[in-house]
Amino acid sequence: MTTTAAPPPTIAAEPRGATRASLGDTTVDEMDPGVPPAPVPFSELLRTRTRNGHGTSSRAGFMSDLMRGSCSRDDLVRLLAQYWHMYRALEQAAVAHARHPVAGAFVTDRLTRLPSLEADLEHLAGPAWRDRLDAVPATVEYVDRLRGAASSSPTAFVAHHYTRYLGDLSGGQHIGRALRLRSGLPDEATTFFTFDDVPDPTAFKDEYRARLDSLPWDEADEEAVVTEVLHAYDLNARLLAELDAERDLGASAGASTGVAS
Ligand code: HEM
Repeated sequence: MTTTAAPPPTIAAEPRGATRASLGDTTVDEMDPGVPPAPVPFSELLRTRTRNGHGTSSRAGFMSDLMRGSCSRDDLVRLLAQYWHMYRALEQAAVAHARHPVAGAFVTDRLTRLPSLEADLEHLAGPAWRDRLDAVPATVEYVDRLRGAASSSPTAFVAHHYTRYLGDLSGGQHIGRALRLRSGLPDEATTFFTFDDVPDPTAFKDEYRARLDSLPWDEADEEAVVTEVLHAYDLNARLLAELDAERDLGASAGASTGVAS
């Protein structure tokens, strides 16, 4: 049993119910009731039980607009500014866990995003980009969680690490491509979405999931990770909703400009 963080208020997880390997219409259980079913790998359980949370985050209007190429340059600056606060706290939590016998296995410089965020912000907002770092309330809460639970609890740290970096290596890759193709942004303005030290994201994610599957954690710890991932999705969704609301205010004041302008 490791130290787990106090459970955050989150949207409900999908039930822990057993998912069985299936061969066509016949499940392994039905084939031979005497053989105990293979345990569901933790990475699969995590993905299944947090699927609703992922759906809510990825369907946010802000994300759809990024994918469509209909965000303004200011919108992107506001998003990267929130990420700057989040990744600064997440990457500090990574330093705190680097020597932990379990959580430390996830820590690698290959994922570090803060320098890319700073380069992109400078490219998009100019040398005074630090004046544009106002955090929305959900970002403040996110950073508190990263500095608190995720810095002291290995299960919370792994949950936040997984939510952001596996997301960046999945949907984040599509978003980066869309920004370059549909918004005409140059590579130098979208380095956050490009992991130079992870040339094969699929292979990296497979290794990452294998690491999740070999965690020496008990069921209570696994539950703590699932709960915290749901909390992370909730924070991401709220952050995007708050940026959307801010954007609506800006649009009604006539402040929108093209992203590539
Ligand atoms: C437009 C927005 C998004 C799109 C299109 C998208 C798309 C995807 C896709 C296609 C995958 C599956 C990749 C694979 O199986 O290798 C994935 C996985 C994932 N996404 Fe997203 N995503 C989006 C937003 C987000 C957001 C906002 C987060 C949270 C910060 C997030 C976190 C994750 C995580 C953690 C995974 C890995 C799930 C797993 O395999 O265990 N995604 N995403």
